[in-house]
Amino acid sequence: MDYIRNHWYVAGFASEFGEAFTTATILEEDIVLYRIADGSVVAFEDRCPHRALPLSMGKRIGDQLQCGYHGLTFGTDGQCVRVPGQRSVPPQAWVRKYPTHERHGIVWIWMGAAEAADTDLVFDMPELDHPAWGVTQGEALEFESNYLNVADNLCDPAHVSFVHPTTLGSPASEDVPIRARRKGRVIEISRWIRNNAPIGFFQAHGGFSGNVDRWHYYYLHAPCIAVIDFGSADTTLALPEERRGEGIQIYALHFMTPVNATRTIDRWMHLRNTAVDDPAAGQKISDLLRVAFAEDKAILEAVQRKELQPRDRPPVRVAIDAGANHYRRVVDEMLAAERVQAAAE
Ligand code: FES
Ligand SMILES: [Fe+2]
Repeated sequence: MDYIRNHWYVAGFASEFGEAFTTATILEEDIVLYRIADGSVVAFEDRCPHRALPLSMGKRIGDQLQCGYHGLTFGTDGQCVRVPGQRSVPPQAWVRKYPTHERHGIVWIWMGAAEAADTDLVFDMPELDHPAWGVTQGEALEFESNYLNVADNLCDPAHVSFVHPTTLGSPASEDVPIRARRKGRVIEISRWIRNNAPIGFFQAHGGFSGNVDRWHYYYLHAPCIAVIDFGSADTTLALPEERRGEGIQIYALHFMTPVNATRTIDRWMHLRNTAVDDPAAGQKISDLLRVAFAEDKAILEAVQRKELQPRDRPPVRVAIDAGANHYRRVVDEMLAAERVQAAAE
């Protein structure tokens, strides 16, 4: 399938990389990664330019990588520096090097042309470095699902009432309309449920005695990052949307890495504006989110299995698809732009 290449994808949480080789498949490309002496993570195509042995089967010689078959050795720029048995090194003896960048405890990798990699474009969110927020890193969740379907799910408040009835949703939100709009490459979908009992999540963590106003804002940064703002406030406060930060607010972040057409890794983390110095509160939120994400996984994998079967008519579209429709349009535009650019080159 076609992927957007000019984008910083997540290669992994920073803790996933050390001196030993780590391998990853991203956009159907096999990659070997390791941390070099200066602390940075280097990423190479996992294929020797000689006889195609995965370089991850070789070993390190200091910061250099030596192939495990005939010992061709590559420097940190990907150029071969040694061919055992001869004095000269053929100029074609190099491996593709992918630009990487570390930010917010995540190692990002640029899958497009290296000269186009601009670290200013790496995802940023000021709250991740702000003392008013408690940040907890989750884990890597694997979906046997195309990333587009995972993304659809991450800009879809309507599924919450049905898929997550005990944690993130309740029947009270079933018929509340959603608002969907697009700002450049960000799709924003939201809805408010006013004056209702708190959902399971906020019953457990909010300390509310009566009804609440609760909200969901999904910001899907095409193609692969979702920022989900959800929270609750005592209904007697009657908070307008721009003051929702006065309630209890959580951001769930999802970073999707497409592995291939039917597999996606979703690395998630979350932020909270309550109990910010209490790691146990962060873990409790993680436990609850883990339950909800397992529910999404079951749904998305079943959908993927069905999508691989032939069908005799196109899917029905309904009003709650507005966010996903925007998203698919943005992805199509980005793919078209890359095709035009590739043709021009
Ligand atoms: S396959 Fe790598 S050196 Fe021969
Ligand atoms: Fe969900």
